[in-house]
Amino acid sequence: LPEPDQALLPTLLPETHAFVKAYMARYDSSHDFSHVLRVLNLAHHISQTEQKYLQSVALVAPPTTKVAPLYDSTIVTLAALLHDVGDRKYIKEGEDVDESPVKTFLVGSGASEALGERVQTIVNGVSYSKEIKDPQRVLDLIESYPELAVVQDADRLDAIGAVGIGRTFTFAGAKGSGGPGMENVLKHFEEKLLRLGTMMKTKTGKEMAEKRIQVLREFERCWLEEKSIAG
Ligand code: ADP
Ligand code: NI
Repeated sequence: LPEPDQALLPTLLPETHAFVKAYMARYDSSHDFSHVLRVLNLAHHISQTEQKYLQSVALVAPPTTKVAPLYDSTIVTLAALLHDVGDRKYIKEGEDVDESPVKTFLVGSGASEALGERVQTIVNGVSYSKEIKDPQRVLDLIESYPELAVVQDADRLDAIGAVGIGRTFTFAGAKGSGGPGMENVLKHFEEKLLRLGTMMKTKTGKEMAEKRIQVLREFERCWLEEKSIAG
């Protein structure tokens, strides 16, 4: 990170943490601050595992080979913390919207325009629905913003596996009678969750998704078995 931003980190990181914690209180509990913290931890787990993999490859390379860091850890932290800020789904019709709320927050906290823009671009790239419409756009973005791959994979891992199943029922519960209803939650597995597992960008993310997809399939199998008796 360039110097003025580097010097700001001791205040910027705790400020971002507090801002997101307060911000997420507006969402239902399928999408709360604990989701953000899991994404933060998963993102660092992925980036560190990818780095270790690269280093193990370098062990058999000439000893002068330098292993450059694949990801900027500060960018991973900021993008993971801020990834759900400004989510369009939760913006009410007619509401005044800031197109770049992540950048607005960061620059307002003293960060450079360049840092604000970089994190905003990564956050904008996380979306599943935008990727479905234009998959190449995300691949192009990752070339310049490698941290996008890590944060996107982390967000998707939190939507699948045991935690992901928990979140689908939490979502249905929070929406109440206006939502999908418990009986229809498994439709969301087919519509979105099983597809997410095939859209991972990192090797680590792919491996973790495989296991979590098996958990979804096994849950589906048990559900159908129980339904075949109980209806
Ligand atoms: P994020 O933006 O963090 O990926 P979403 O806002 O898409 O999450 O959804 C929040 C949670 O609610 C996710 O775990 C998702 O699987 C779940 N969810 C969203 N839509 C549905 C639905 N129609 N039925 C069941 N669960 C849903
Ligand atoms: Ni999310």
